[in-house]
Amino acid sequence: SIELSLRPVSLNQYIGQDKVKENLSIFIQAAKMRNEPLDHVLLYGPPGLGKTTLAAIIANEMGVNFRSTSGPAIERAGDLAAILSSLEPGDVLFIDEVHRLPRTVEEVLYSAMEDFFLDIVIGTGPSARSVKIDLPPFTLVGATTRAGLLTAPLRDRFGVLSRLEFYEVKDLCAIVERTAEIFHTTITKEGAIEVARRSRGTPRIANRLLKRIRDISQVKGEEEISLETTDQALDMLQVDDAGLDHIDHKLLKGIIDGFQGGPVGLDTIAATIGEEPQTIEDVYEPYLLQIGFIQRTPRGRIITAKAYQHFGITKHEE
Ligand code: ADE
Repeated sequence: SIELSLRPVSLNQYIGQDKVKENLSIFIQAAKMRNEPLDHVLLYGPPGLGKTTLAAIIANEMGVNFRSTSGPAIERAGDLAAILSSLEPGDVLFIDEVHRLPRTVEEVLYSAMEDFFLDIVIGTGPSARSVKIDLPPFTLVGATTRAGLLTAPLRDRFGVLSRLEFYEVKDLCAIVERTAEIFHTTITKEGAIEVARRSRGTPRIANRLLKRIRDISQVKGEEEISLETTDQALDMLQVDDAGLDHIDHKLLKGIIDGFQGGPVGLDTIAATIGEEPQTIEDVYEPYLLQIGFIQRTPRGRIITAKAYQHFGITKHEE
């Protein structure tokens, strides 16, 4: 599918996240020299920054199979045992949302990660017995939005912790140009910069916006996607000049109008605007914090003067 072909397959093709790439590249090279599996890797950071892509690249660079699942999909210890015992030596097992593994599953994962064996209880009551299963050595790549969501014992078993950051405009611009090429289309430099600037530092958002911009450009019969069409499309998609969407607005305006700009607690905001606290915290807040529109204080969230300015309103101090 086009979604899959959009994904870079090697570290060299992967744009941005230079520090993460530099570190991983050394650890991969060393593991290969020693003929050992790569140590377990925890990738954390806001959604859409390329954690899954990076996990697949790690497998590819190591020359092993890539197996992919998610925390909530592994319901029982037996599910985990089935996956782990079907791996070939050195394979990468990617677990997305690794913080959402059931506790009973997480507990059997410890010995699997540490010493490549499973200790599983079979049966119940007096006939219950524990069996030890040897596993092929493997690399667990876990992904989560925040490292702090993991229990300490799980976090401690990852040898490599890599935090993905929001992308710089120049990197997002290169990603947009690369994606345009895969779509067999071209976008002007000004157009690409505009998409990059208004994509909340997030490749997944940039690529999604580019698809819609391309639709409009195509219908207009353009040879090349212009800045004018890019602006028109982004306005149509209700992406504002700072890249904020309808929900960002609801969040910011909710605090401004309902709580005089705060401070207000997360749960109160969530109830007011009808979103899950966890979604606000993991999906919407990180970028608003990064661009300095929201601040966290011990008494709750506050909207900054910069955000007020964005909406063209002056903050009245009492
Ligand atoms: N597509 C999405 N994210 C990318 C990245 N970091 N590098 C290259 N292409 C991408």
